[in-house]
Amino acid sequence: MEKNRIKTLNFVTGLARLLAEHTQLSEDALMMAVETPPDSKMGHFAFPCFELAKTWKKAPPMIAAELAAKIDATKPGWLGQAIATGPYVNFFLDRTAFATAVLLEVLEAGAEYGASDEGEGKSVLIDFSSPNIAKHFHIGHLGTTIIGKVLDNIYRFLGYEVTGINHLGDWGTQFGKLITAYLKWGSEEEIIKTEIDGLVKLYVKFHEEADNDPSLNDQAREWVVKMQNGDEEGLRIWKWFCEISMNEFDRIYDRLGITFDLFRGESYYSGKLADDVAESLAAKGLLQESGGAQIVDLEEWKMAPCMILRKDGGTLYPTRDIAAAIDRYETFKFDKCLYVTGNEQSLHFAQWFKVVELMGYPWAEGLEHVPYGMYLFEGGKLSTRRGDVIKIEDLLEETVAKTLAIINEKNPNLSNKEHVAEQVGIGALKFNKLYNSRIKDTVFNWDRMLNFEGETGPYVQYTHARACSVIRKALREDSNLDFGTMGLAMISGATFDPSLLADDEPFEVLRMIHDFPTKVRDSAEKYEPFIIARQLVAVAQAYNAFYHKHQILVDHEPTRRARLVLTSAVRQVLKTGLSLLGISAPVVM
Ligand code: ARG
Repeated sequence: MEKNRIKTLNFVTGLARLLAEHTQLSEDALMMAVETPPDSKMGHFAFPCFELAKTWKKAPPMIAAELAAKIDATKPGWLGQAIATGPYVNFFLDRTAFATAVLLEVLEAGAEYGASDEGEGKSVLIDFSSPNIAKHFHIGHLGTTIIGKVLDNIYRFLGYEVTGINHLGDWGTQFGKLITAYLKWGSEEEIIKTEIDGLVKLYVKFHEEADNDPSLNDQAREWVVKMQNGDEEGLRIWKWFCEISMNEFDRIYDRLGITFDLFRGESYYSGKLADDVAESLAAKGLLQESGGAQIVDLEEWKMAPCMILRKDGGTLYPTRDIAAAIDRYETFKFDKCLYVTGNEQSLHFAQWFKVVELMGYPWAEGLEHVPYGMYLFEGGKLSTRRGDVIKIEDLLEETVAKTLAIINEKNPNLSNKEHVAEQVGIGALKFNKLYNSRIKDTVFNWDRMLNFEGETGPYVQYTHARACSVIRKALREDSNLDFGTMGLAMISGATFDPSLLADDEPFEVLRMIHDFPTKVRDSAEKYEPFIIARQLVAVAQAYNAFYHKHQILVDHEPTRRARLVLTSAVRQVLKTGLSLLGISAPVVM
């Protein structure tokens, strides 16, 4: 199957090819040079002639005039004319040809519109979500879970071999503390009943008691060492705590529609693999003693030292990350390994990435930290007692309940209301996190994120449902077709007339649809889902402007067809885009 559609559709590439014939500049350089004028009345693309002035030794406006006269803009089939304006050659699309090209592209590609095979044969690992055992899945892990999954979707869409990895936090001193506390004050019955709540309580109690009785800390450390050496009792209890935690995590992943290719916790790397790291660092002369612990000094790079082994020989978070990266490279030979975590871990990743580089691994170049900002609460009622975390399960519950209330008000007769509320509520939560550059903090405000008319998930979903409803009405009269095939059947029909889509509103819709594949690619390159999220809002806004100005199901058959074909393409792009963002696209809401 021919999948590499971006190349054929990208008009900038075509324009660069055309310009190359007349300028002796490379297509790559020309692609970079072509601009989009701020006002499309000036043109849809502009080529500035300043660079050429240096080699042609003429004033830019003269070059622009010369080029505009020479270039046959109609050659690629979708350009109207080239006009010199000052130092620029401005190009105008031929609206009719453009409409046919874009619509055919979308409708023939269907769900593959925007997809590509550029990643073929390249392996990308995405380490995301990775909550900590014996703690609640709290709001701090929501961002990585949502963003990580979207990157996973996008890279797959672009043909990469993607492996989504959950690097569970299931090892460290906290488990020694927890086991000590459990054996002293806990009971099996209680933990079975209270699950993670009970474990958190024990952990808190440990810290309270250890303030008065420091020997508890020694006991905790002993447990860690014992477990490291394979102590059966310790490992049995630890495994049970892991299972309890996974119950909660699985429930949440289910509800968020998130899956992983590999669950592998830190414990997997705490034994031999971590020892190998320490040995190899020592052999390379990179390990130093500092206060009894083993570190890699990073002063030369203006960073605090990277801790490798504790005083008691125990491994640390960076040690296990280094061991995991080496193991992952051996297993997957990755081209890129992305780590999606909160911004506050930036130093941790910078430190151990440097250590891996110093160890001489060339693949260190493929390691990439993808940080994101945190949630800020504003005007929400979800109050937590000081020090308490916001549990994702509570957040999901409340978001879906609020969504159901809105649906009850807007569309009380909707069948399947609970299901739609789940799709819309969870979609809104995800979209809210995805709408801004990931490094920005996300303001959490239910009213805003659930606003059906704002720049929100529900708005995009609603527009998709609107397009579906128009199509549904049309289909009632032509029962041989369905959602997927209608647009293509109509555009292939003899009566399809693209000049009926030459008005400003449909033209704007077409431009937004045309840009979608480029935005997908851009968003992968920058690890920025917001680029797709914003493009979907742009498509939705353009379509709604069109919808309000032009009735679609009019009697005049060719007009009706042209508008239905456009609607069908909009439906497809919104659906594909939402699915890349991990958001459902209900057909009614
Ligand atoms: N469990 C860690 C935390 O909650 C996140 C792990 C991220 N992945 C990694 N390879 N370090 O902070």
